[in-house]
Amino acid sequence: MIRQVNDSDFLRIYELGSMLHENYKNVYNLTDLLTRGYFHVLCYEINGLVVGFLSYTKLDHMVDLVDLVVDPNYRRQKVATNLIDSMITVLDPEDKIYLEVSSQNTNAISLYQKFGFEKIHTREKYYGEEDAFVMERVTFYE
Ligand SMILES: CC(C)(COP(=O)(O)OP(=O)(O)OC[C@H]1O[C@@H](n2cnc3c(N)ncnc32)[C@H](O)[C@@H]1OP(=O)(O)O)[C@@H](O)C(=O)NCCC(=O)NCCS
Repeated sequence: MIRQVNDSDFLRIYELGSMLHENYKNVYNLTDLLTRGYFHVLCYEINGLVVGFLSYTKLDHMVDLVDLVVDPNYRRQKVATNLIDSMITVLDPEDKIYLEVSSQNTNAISLYQKFGFEKIHTREKYYGEEDAFVMERVTFYE
C-alpha cells in the first residue's frame, strides 16, 4: 500500500533516510517540512512496515524528487517503481520533474531512465570525488 506519511512514520523515515544521508534527521525536519504545502512524502507499507519512501517538492509546476530509499530487504521488488508511479499520478501533465543523483549510482540511474529521465547537467565533484547528475523527465504524458 502506498500512502502519505503521518507523524507515526517519522522515526522509520529517519531510519531509512539515514541510509542515504548520515544526518538525515537533522537535515529534514519532517514535522516542520510537512506543514509547508510544497513538501510531500509517500511511503510504501507492507504488513504494517514502511519499506520505502519517496519525498518530493512541488512549487508551481516545478517538481524535485528529493529522496528515494527502499529497505535493502525489499529491493528489486518494484517498491521504488511503484512509489515513482504514485508520485507521477498526482502531478499535473505540465509539471517538470527534476532530480539529482550520484554519477556512481547506476542502479538509481537505470531506474530513473526507465521513467524517461535524462541527464541534463553534471555537477562536477559534487559528492566529494563523485559527480552528480541532474536529470529531467523528458517523457511526455499520453
Ligand atoms: C535505487 C533504489 C531506490 C531502487 O529501489 P527498488 O525498489 O529496488 O527498485 P525497483 O525494484 O523498482 O527497480 C526498478 C529498476 O531499477 C533498476 N535497479 C534497481 N536496483 C537495481 C540493482 N540492484 N541493480 C541493477 N539495476 C537496478 C533496474 O532497472 C530495475 O528494473 P528491473 O528490476 O526490471 O531490472 C534502491 O536500490 C535504494 O534504496 N538504493 C539506496 C538509496 C538510493 O540510492 N536512492 C536513490 C538516490 S537518488
